[in-house]
Amino acid sequence: MRKKIVAGNWKMNLTLAQGEQLINDILQAGLKLAEGQEVVVATPFPYLTKAKSLLKNYPGFFVAAQNCASEKSGAYTGEVSAEMLQSVGVDYVIIGHSERREYFQESNAILAKKIDLALAAGIKPIFCCGEPLEVRQAETQNAFVAKQLEESLFHLTEEQLKNVVIAYEPIWAIGTGLTASAAQAQDMHAFIRSQIANKFGREAALHLTILYGGSAKPGNAAELFSNPDVDGGLIGGASLVASDFVAIIQHLG
Ligand code: G3P
Repeated sequence: MRKKIVAGNWKMNLTLAQGEQLINDILQAGLKLAEGQEVVVATPFPYLTKAKSLLKNYPGFFVAAQNCASEKSGAYTGEVSAEMLQSVGVDYVIIGHSERREYFQESNAILAKKIDLALAAGIKPIFCCGEPLEVRQAETQNAFVAKQLEESLFHLTEEQLKNVVIAYEPIWAIGTGLTASAAQAQDMHAFIRSQIANKFGREAALHLTILYGGSAKPGNAAELFSNPDVDGGLIGGASLVASDFVAIIQHLG
């Protein structure tokens, strides 16, 4: 059985005190995660150590960074390496979020390097893919996402892929309140899984966790997560409100 995950991407929000309060409010809900269910909190870099310490006694709760450097180490002022993240106990790292692809010109090739470095450091990548509105309107989203998978993931071994999570985030649904329909999400997740099966084999594809991201909220999580190829969500805005984030987690299958 593949993992079911709800990950909260805080993006560039909250002070340390607000983040600590948010995590404590989430923990106060007393969630009991079933076998194979995980909750991941992706905080800004400066809060990762504190988040890790707050979550350390809660089985199934993990910490993610929102990015890592595309180089192992060296004269890259301001960058944070995968090894640094591993050294403070980070479990996952979001790689290739559409906001980073857009604002920081992160190509599929650069993202492939980041994935390699994360895996080498023992951190699990959450690899983001997804099409912009004009591609969806042209109905060429499958080819668009297939290219992202091929150029960033298809160099991996089947063994390495076991530590990768994919997040499908249609760009037109991120932060817009425009959620992909359950059918649209299921169609793309099934397509992604078929692409992985063609490249890595059926077993690898069956074990791959594929999250949906893009205006996932308490009101639509149940329908989204009820789909056979939707294994949870990568949540933005709703992850900043403890009651909303907890409500979404409670819909995990
Ligand atoms: O990484 C998740 C994020 O891009 C989705 O944002 O606010 O639409 O849930 P939001």
